[in-house]
Amino acid sequence: MAPFEILERDGLARLGRLATPHGPIETPALLPVVHPDPDRQPVAPAEMRRRLGIRAVITSAYIAGRIPALRARAEQEGIHGLLAFDGPVMTDSGAFQQHAYGSVEVGPEEVLEFQERIGSDISTVLDIFTEPAATHEEAETALRTTGERGRWARARRTGLLAVPVQGGSYPDLRARSAAEASDLGDVLAVGGVVPLMEQYRFPELARVLAAVRPTLSPGAAIHLFGTGHPMVFAFAALFGVDLFDSSAYLKFARRGDLLFPEGTVAVDDLRENTCHCFLCAEQPLTQVRTLPPREREPRLAFHNLLVSVEEVARVRQAIREGTLWELAERRAGAHPALRAGLASARERSDVFLPCEPESRRAFREVESESRRRPAVVRFLQKVRVYSAVREPTHLLPRVPLRPEYLRFVPTLDSKGSELHWVTATPLGAIPLELTDLYPVGPYLGEEDYAHPSHHHPPGWLSSVVFAELGRDFDEDTDWTDAWTSRQIAGLLEWQYGPELAAKIAPRFRGERSPRTGRLRAFRFSDSGEFAFHVGTDGVARPTFRGAGVLHGELPVGHHRVVVDDDAAPFVKAGRSLFVHFVRACDPAMVPGSSVLLVDRSDRLLAVGRLLLAPHEIPRLSRGVAAWVTSHERSQDLLPAEGETTLSKDA
Ligand code: GUN
Ligand code: ZN
Repeated sequence: MAPFEILERDGLARLGRLATPHGPIETPALLPVVHPDPDRQPVAPAEMRRRLGIRAVITSAYIAGRIPALRARAEQEGIHGLLAFDGPVMTDSGAFQQHAYGSVEVGPEEVLEFQERIGSDISTVLDIFTEPAATHEEAETALRTTGERGRWARARRTGLLAVPVQGGSYPDLRARSAAEASDLGDVLAVGGVVPLMEQYRFPELARVLAAVRPTLSPGAAIHLFGTGHPMVFAFAALFGVDLFDSSAYLKFARRGDLLFPEGTVAVDDLRENTCHCFLCAEQPLTQVRTLPPREREPRLAFHNLLVSVEEVARVRQAIREGTLWELAERRAGAHPALRAGLASARERSDVFLPCEPESRRAFREVESESRRRPAVVRFLQKVRVYSAVREPTHLLPRVPLRPEYLRFVPTLDSKGSELHWVTATPLGAIPLELTDLYPVGPYLGEEDYAHPSHHHPPGWLSSVVFAELGRDFDEDTDWTDAWTSRQIAGLLEWQYGPELAAKIAPRFRGERSPRTGRLRAFRFSDSGEFAFHVGTDGVARPTFRGAGVLHGELPVGHHRVVVDDDAAPFVKAGRSLFVHFVRACDPAMVPGSSVLLVDRSDRLLAVGRLLLAPHEIPRLSRGVAAWVTSHERSQDLLPAEGETTLSKDA
């Protein structure tokens, strides 16, 4: 299995680490394409590292092998000597060049052996580049050859291997190629997409990525050949692409173009100094514009690379924060074609949902289409299931979701039967007791601002309720306890189903924030100990004692991760659970789910929080599967007001 681990994630996107003989590559990472001939490479790899912090590069073994002088040097000094670079070097096999120039000069064995000889950290199989316009038959025939070469290469090579994924525009072939590559590769390199990228055919690119992603192994690094323009990085990362390779920084520089995540700018058009990065502080772009081409080109290339590196950093930060959809939506503003690509991505919520986290810190609406993100699709599906057993509903008009109003909402009507209150939100009609949950609770969108709370005098909601009930409403009557019980039952039902909720909810009493009125913990009614904390995402997460109750009531296997004997004592003491100690995991869980960590005899060891999706765990060879959030000796104090309980170290 590939030496790749996942450290953090946001949906399909991950922060990972790929170990190579020349050190780890922290992903997502940009591998600049460098020419193997130092005289033809305007920015030296060592300078890229020194000034921009670039850790790894990609170069063409095909070109290095074809030019005799380069070949001799590469064989003597190794590829690292030739490039004067001691970081990880990935080499490409030349499939694209051979395709573009129509010549088949070197065979697959020769190319692989050469990469081996020159000490490439990641060697690439010589695939057959398949055009998006190829027929199904052509694409399938080519794929068979690519597959044979991949199997031959894996049998031979002991080092890291990049296995290309082809299949043209055919989802069935793409999926098959992705599955085959996953059995062989440490890096799974999605190829045949340069024409889509160059011609801004982003909806088609989205369809290719959606076709390959479910069958690509989560335990290998995913590379996308030719992801050159920084405006595409967030979009590609959304599908879980870990490695971008860019020759765009050079190609665009040659024609006088500056790359920005917001789009491309011709340097000749620049009359204002719109950038103040350290390069532009040395020499403003309006001056660079007037330089002779031989001096201008390397500066533009360097600038393009700097901008690309910055964008990768933003993508990485967004993955940490859980804001990658927001970044991708903002970037889609760079070009209508990219916006169309993102729309295609949203249509494939089936691809995203298995890795979609249970919650995030916030949901920020960037555009109206933001409401079609997978997080919303999942939430509304669950709301439909939740609401199906409840009739009739009483719709409250759109109100600011101020929790302190909720305590004026009655739970029973005048005849003593249960009322189902639903309120209008930007995401539609949502049961009132669920309105603190992600994404609707931490929702930041236009609708909320349209109804600032000070427009409604105190008691306004109670008068609405009064009108709906058609009887006198006494504001002094304290509905708080009844409503809080109702909310506790609702949140437990949301996670564990109606039977279990009905059974255990009466054992708890709620604790609300004195400042905001928000429900923030459930305590045991008898002992007063904390049983669940309610995070800013609205999700009730068990403490070790609360988990004891769930453990007694949930069927064996449910909401559980079974821990190997070797790791059980460590997990019991609060240490993270690593993938290779997981024996089983409830397949209904998702990243971010709170789980009961149990030993092989189903004894409760601790409460954990999943980093990985259940289907990913057996496919990874290293790294954390779940963090322990509460164990026998935890203090389980209430998090300070406003503090999130979402982070792994909570
Ligand atoms: N460079 C750009 N596209 C491709 C591809 O499909 N395969 C390989 N090996 N290299 C590429
Ligand atoms: Zn600049």
